[in-house]
Amino acid sequence: MVGASLAAGQAGIARSSATTIAVTLGKPSEYGFALSKSQVPIGTVTFKVTDAGLLPHSFKVCARASKSDTAVACAGRVTPTLQPGKSATLRVVFTSKGSFEYLSAVPGDASAGMKGLLGVGVKAAAGSSGQPTATATTTTTPSKTTTPGKTTPIVKPPATETLIGDPSVGASVFGTAGCASCHTLAAAKSTGTTGLNLDQLAPAQSLVVTTVTNGAFNMPAFGGQLTASQINAVAAYVYQSTHQ
Ligand code: HEC
Repeated sequence: MVGASLAAGQAGIARSSATTIAVTLGKPSEYGFALSKSQVPIGTVTFKVTDAGLLPHSFKVCARASKSDTAVACAGRVTPTLQPGKSATLRVVFTSKGSFEYLSAVPGDASAGMKGLLGVGVKAAAGSSGQPTATATTTTTPSKTTTPGKTTPIVKPPATETLIGDPSVGASVFGTAGCASCHTLAAAKSTGTTGLNLDQLAPAQSLVVTTVTNGAFNMPAFGGQLTASQINAVAAYVYQSTHQ
């Protein structure tokens, strides 16, 4: 347990670490964020997000760790766009340590500085705690931008997890459950773009299990249609196909 403060009592069994962060959009300035914590342990984090600004904003947590908060768009989990005064809850399961960028996905917000870094199991990378001015000097256009085409080779991260299901069963679940219609996955020759590119995301199996079981923003929950072993199988398949 990485210093997780578990909610005590309630006669229940605390199964995993649970952390809640209050996120205020539009504070201290319109294109700013105020987070009640800048560092959390690995595990599930519930973000209680409120727009206290004068304009609509959203709160997105990027799926991949990064050393800086220079991106203005990323794949990740996001709240709906919140009108001023409105709130939403976003749950994110962090399965690895690192600094994770968060940003507002409303066009123009992140480039106006509405982004920052959250430390998961580590201190958020230096120079940024939602104060974008500190990194403003380094936000030049990178010489190698990712072209929206399909030529960028993806380097698969090493496989370190033990498979939790049968990937060959998972391959057929991936097709029959309709994952392919929304997600790009080279191994399945699927090119869906409604959801994230799974080759780029290279998710941990636990992230696939949680997402497929409970659904996500704009992704249906499959917990009622697929058995636990089918879900484990599809997680193993996605994991095996995106790691080497
Ligand atoms: C109707 C379209 C749709 C279908 C069908 C669908 N997904 Fe998704 N999926 C999405 C969207 C949209 C997101 C991004 C959600 C977000 O940003 O919160 C997503 C996110 C994910 C993520 C990443 C979750 C995260 O928190 O980063 C994984 C893994 C995933 N899907 C796997 C699957 C698998 C496996 C299936 C098949 C069982 C599937 N999806 C079916 C649309 C879909």
